[in-house]
Amino acid sequence: MDAFEKLNLWRKSINSRLRELLLLVKDERLREALSYYPLQEGKRLRPLSLVATCDALSGNLDDAITLGCAIELIHAYSLIHDDLPNLDNATFRRNLPAFHIRFGDDIAILAGDGLLTLAFEVLSKRELYKSLDERALLRAIHLTAVKSGPSGMVLGQALELYHHTDREYINLLKTAELFSLCFMLGGLCANLEDLSALEALGKRFGICFQMLDDLRDKDGLYLNLGSILEKKLISELKSLLTSLKELSLFTKEIEIIMKLAFGETIQELFS
Ligand code: IPE
Ligand code: IPE
Ligand code: MG
Repeated sequence: MDAFEKLNLWRKSINSRLRELLLLVKDERLREALSYYPLQEGKRLRPLSLVATCDALSGNLDDAITLGCAIELIHAYSLIHDDLPNLDNATFRRNLPAFHIRFGDDIAILAGDGLLTLAFEVLSKRELYKSLDERALLRAIHLTAVKSGPSGMVLGQALELYHHTDREYINLLKTAELFSLCFMLGGLCANLEDLSALEALGKRFGICFQMLDDLRDKDGLYLNLGSILEKKLISELKSLLTSLKELSLFTKEIEIIMKLAFGETIQELFS
């Protein structure tokens, strides 16, 4: 199987696992709402990075897919709340009506709450895992809470509302912490004890990813740096490639994920 086929297989497994996990929501009407963002055609960058890291380190891929889906549920919740009128007031996401346009602001708040809680139900449901033991799952739960909660992603979103001036710090928290979590959980699935190198690598990936998002949307860090942002992004991407190679993680699969995340911006760096 070549790397493209492998990635397609992972994507399919992620999509079908997400569908299964959403069946944990018993009420059909609420399940339809909670499923709206997670079952759309997202790029799946977070679960794919987690699975690719695990694969490069020879860990259990099935467990990586389940952990990746838990993080995708958190990502979906963060987008529902981020799009609300009192936050970014976005009416469209992925070329479809934003969650609150389709279901209303009230259900948007509850669906976000529901997806976040469902993610922790998935992380803590012992029978879903084949090789991770209780100790590893407790570590996954703790890391997820720290990276996505009020010391991580939620703090980043709050600092944006508080008009905090350090945009690099905001981007690190609101976006890069969740990516760093994915690389770390990939290592956890492969029984690594020390996850600090993966944490640093994942932060670098997420920082580059949010830089490109700011560059495309002409907001965030672009408002501080203007056209310098593109030069900064290229230099950060070069460091990211070096770190991936140093950790023996620069596999064909990760290269495809990088292209998915960074598009034409990265093309020249590969040649
Ligand atoms: C969007 O993330 C939110 C940011 C952190 C910029 P993605 O671009 O990964 O979203 P989807 O899931 O692929 O739509
Ligand atoms: C979204 O950041 C970050 C989170 C949801 C945590 P942005 O507001 O920059 O992303 P988009 O442009 O809405 O996807
Ligand atoms: Mg937004």
